[in-house]
Amino acid sequence: MTDLDQYLDQHDRRIHDELFDLLRIPSVSARSEHAADVRRTAEWLRDSLAKIGFDASIHPTSGHPIVLGEWRGAPGAPTILIYGHYDVQPAEPLELWESPPFEPTIRNGRIYARGATDDKGQLFLHVKALEAHLAVRGKLPVNVIVLAEGEEEVGSENLERFVEENAKRLAASAVVISDSSMFAPGQPSIVSSLRGLAYFQINVTGPTVDLHSGSYGGAVVNPATALARIIASFHDENGHIAIPGFYDTVRDWSDSAREAIRRLPFDEGVFQRQTGAPALGGEKGYSTLERIWTRPTCEVNGLLSGYTGEGAKTVLPSKAMAKVSCRLVPDQQPEEIERLMRAHVTRVAPKGVTVTVENLSGGRPWRAELDGPLFDAARRSLKAAFGREPVIVGEGGSIPVVGDFQRILGTPVLLMGFGLPGENAHAPNEWISDENFVKGAKAVASFWDELAAN
Ligand code: BES
Ligand code: MN
Ligand code: MN
Repeated sequence: MTDLDQYLDQHDRRIHDELFDLLRIPSVSARSEHAADVRRTAEWLRDSLAKIGFDASIHPTSGHPIVLGEWRGAPGAPTILIYGHYDVQPAEPLELWESPPFEPTIRNGRIYARGATDDKGQLFLHVKALEAHLAVRGKLPVNVIVLAEGEEEVGSENLERFVEENAKRLAASAVVISDSSMFAPGQPSIVSSLRGLAYFQINVTGPTVDLHSGSYGGAVVNPATALARIIASFHDENGHIAIPGFYDTVRDWSDSAREAIRRLPFDEGVFQRQTGAPALGGEKGYSTLERIWTRPTCEVNGLLSGYTGEGAKTVLPSKAMAKVSCRLVPDQQPEEIERLMRAHVTRVAPKGVTVTVENLSGGRPWRAELDGPLFDAARRSLKAAFGREPVIVGEGGSIPVVGDFQRILGTPVLLMGFGLPGENAHAPNEWISDENFVKGAKAVASFWDELAAN
C-alpha cells in the first residue's frame, strides 16, 4: 500500500461525506429551473479545488459555467488536463427511483444518486486523488489543469469556443477523462473510441387543426402516417441506413481491431437480459459489440402525434414530430450528416404535408491510437489498483469535447473510466460501485506517479 492509498483510506469517511454533498445538488443542465443549482455545483467544485490547493475559478458562458482548477507548481514537468462534467441528466420518472435521486444512499456496496457515475462520482475521485498528493507530499509530480463543464449532457454547446479562446491557458501534453465504464466488474478498461452525434427534430404539419377522421380521413394526408413513412425510409431490411451517402466517410476498422473486439469475453445473452428486450437486433453482418462501437446509427428518440389519451378519439392529427439522433463513427462529421439528412427527408416527404428538419445538437466521433508513455502509465496504475491488466474497449456513447481537445489542443486523450455496465446512467436508480469509486481514486493517484516516472 502506498502513502497515497493510506491517505485515501484514512479519509474515506470524509471523502464520502463530501461526495454525497456534491451528489445532493440537482445540477440538471437541461432544465432552466435548475440553473441556480447548476451554478451552485460549479461554486461547490471551485471551493473544493481551492481547498486542496488549486487556483480555482469560474468562467461564465452563455449557458452554464465552466470550472477551472490549476496547479502549476512543477516547472519543467508536463502539464495534464483533467476533464469532467458536473451536470447531470434529468431524474424523471421519479416514481421509479427506490431512493430519491438527490438523496445519495449506499445499498449493497452501491452509491445510488443521479450523477453518481455520470459524471460527478468519476470527476470527484480525481479531485480526491489530487488532494492525496498535495496533502501527503505537498506537491504533484506534474502540472495539472482541471476543467469541469456544466453542459455535457445538453451537448457541450459552449465548450468548444471556450477551449479555442483559452487554448494557450489549456495547453497540455495530455487530456485525462473518467466518464466511461469498465468492460466488466474487476476488469479495468481504456476506451479507444467514442461515437459522435447528429441530433434532429423532424416536424410534419398538415391541416391547421385536428380534423374529424370520418369527415376528412382518406381525403387529407395524415401527418402521422407521413412521418412514419419518413422514419421507415431510414433503414433497409438488413438494418443498413438507407440515407444516400450516409456511409461515404466511414473509415473501416482494421482487421486487428475487429479481432481484438472478438477476443473480449462478451455474453450476448447477459447483455440481452440486461436490456429486458425480447431479442437483440441491428445491422446485418456485425456482432453486438461491433454494432455499438464501430457502426453508425439512426435512432428515433421520441415521437409525438395525435390523440394519446384514454380511450378512442377519431381524429386526423394536424401535426407529428419525431426526435431522431444519428450516432456517428470516424470520419463522419455532424455537418455533413445534417446535409444528407435534410436532402433525404426532402426527397421522401409525401406530398400534402410540410416537413421541416431542425438540428438540435452535434458532436464529432473520435478514435485513438493507444500507445506511448501516457497509456503505459495508465496500464500500470490500473493494474496496480485492480490487480488485472486493462483491456482496450470501444464506446457507443459520445463526449462531444473529446474530438475538440484532439483537434484544438493537439493532445492525446486518455479515457479511463470507473463505471460498470448496468449502472443506469441517464435512467432511474443510477449508481456507482463504491469499490470502484475508491479503487478509481487510488488508480488515478498512482497514475500521476507512473506518468512522472516515465
Ligand atoms: N458519459 C457519457 C458518455 C458515455 C456514455 C460514455 C456511455 C461511456 C458510456 C456522457 O455523459 C453522455 O451521456 N453523453 C451524451 C452526449 C450527448 C448529450 C451530446 C450521449 O452520449 O448521449
Ligand atoms: Mn458523462
Ligand atoms: Mn451522460
